[in-house]
Amino acid sequence: MYADLKKGFKIKPDPVILSIESSCDETAAAVVRGGREILSSEIISSCSEHIRFGGVVPEIASRAHTTAVSEVVKRAINASGVDLTDIDAVAVTYGAGLLGALLVGLSYAKALAFSLGVPIIPVSHIRGHLAAAYLADKTLEPPFISLLASGGHTAVIEVKKVDEFRLLGGTLDDAVGEAFDKVARTIGLEYPGGPNIEKLAEEGKNAIALPKMLKGDGGYNFSYSGLKTAVVNYVHNAKQHGQTFSKADVARSFQCSAIDVLVEKSLKACGECKLNTLTVGGGVAANGYLRKRLDEECKKAGIKLVLPPKILCTDNAAMIGAEGFIQYEKGNFADLGLNAKARVDLGQNI
Ligand SMILES: Nc1ncnc2c1ncn2[C@@H]1O[C@H](COP(=O)(O)OP(=O)(O)O)[C@@H](O)[C@H]1O
Ligand SMILES: [Mg+2]
Repeated sequence: MYADLKKGFKIKPDPVILSIESSCDETAAAVVRGGREILSSEIISSCSEHIRFGGVVPEIASRAHTTAVSEVVKRAINASGVDLTDIDAVAVTYGAGLLGALLVGLSYAKALAFSLGVPIIPVSHIRGHLAAAYLADKTLEPPFISLLASGGHTAVIEVKKVDEFRLLGGTLDDAVGEAFDKVARTIGLEYPGGPNIEKLAEEGKNAIALPKMLKGDGGYNFSYSGLKTAVVNYVHNAKQHGQTFSKADVARSFQCSAIDVLVEKSLKACGECKLNTLTVGGGVAANGYLRKRLDEECKKAGIKLVLPPKILCTDNAAMIGAEGFIQYEKGNFADLGLNAKARVDLGQNI
């Protein structure tokens, strides 16, 4: 039924992959060589269009992608120093994310791959966040422990091979980034909540007693819903009693509670799995306090920390190219029937 873009491609040793990402409010394209070398990475964000709504509006995001996608691909090609005809494959995020948003990138990628006569590689956004570490450290090889801390997922993962994972634990309810965003809204900070909490926390003290979450307990699982509710209750209680409170202290106290447990469980996983490399991925990995705490604790424990630059932690297409390379080497290509998926669950093998 569909033109076959799955078979008959020769796997090249050092492929130049054009990658496209459109799962949320960033339209991104990158050119990555051999899965490790970023030739270009471009982002057009519709973030500012969502601020007045307090969060990403799917329809606005989709429309923004339709106007940005060809421009961002053009920029990525121009900045990379290669021609479109040098592209060996097109990698694209098929999920998880907003369906309408994903479909824009997916449709563009299919049309481009078809017209160039190159394979199309479907990439999981979650795996993309994990693969950002390979761009940060070109010598990185499994096994290692990876902390995934994003808007939709929170997990500690043993990476056994590039495509073989063991999920040690994950969140039982909200993801850490989601908690940042909800707490931000509670104290009147604009979207996106994470960076705004971080900024305000710099002026505050860790002075408010908040639940310990599953710190020191619960194996490798996390629970952010109780922490979020405790903050909401603290704020509402103060308002009802006409008491003033420091938003900066709320931000700082929340940030410490939310992050300390991530650090503790990541280090524990390295110890228990006897692995001395830790990588981090996902938007929350851009948080300065998390980065500092991980750096301190890994130094103390003699663990090598691979911390991608902030721009590779938040949504970008270079990480999709890095994961696309892993899939390319296995010949995991899609045909033109490839569809978008809103959810990609963290199974045992992600
Ligand atoms: N500096 C930061 N501190 C804390 N959280 C952050 C920071 N920057 C981004 N985030 C959070 O990261 C999340 C988005 O990250 P991302 O990995 O793209 O999520 P997902 O891919 O699951 O949608 C948002 O919840 C945002 O608030
Ligand atoms: Mg993301």
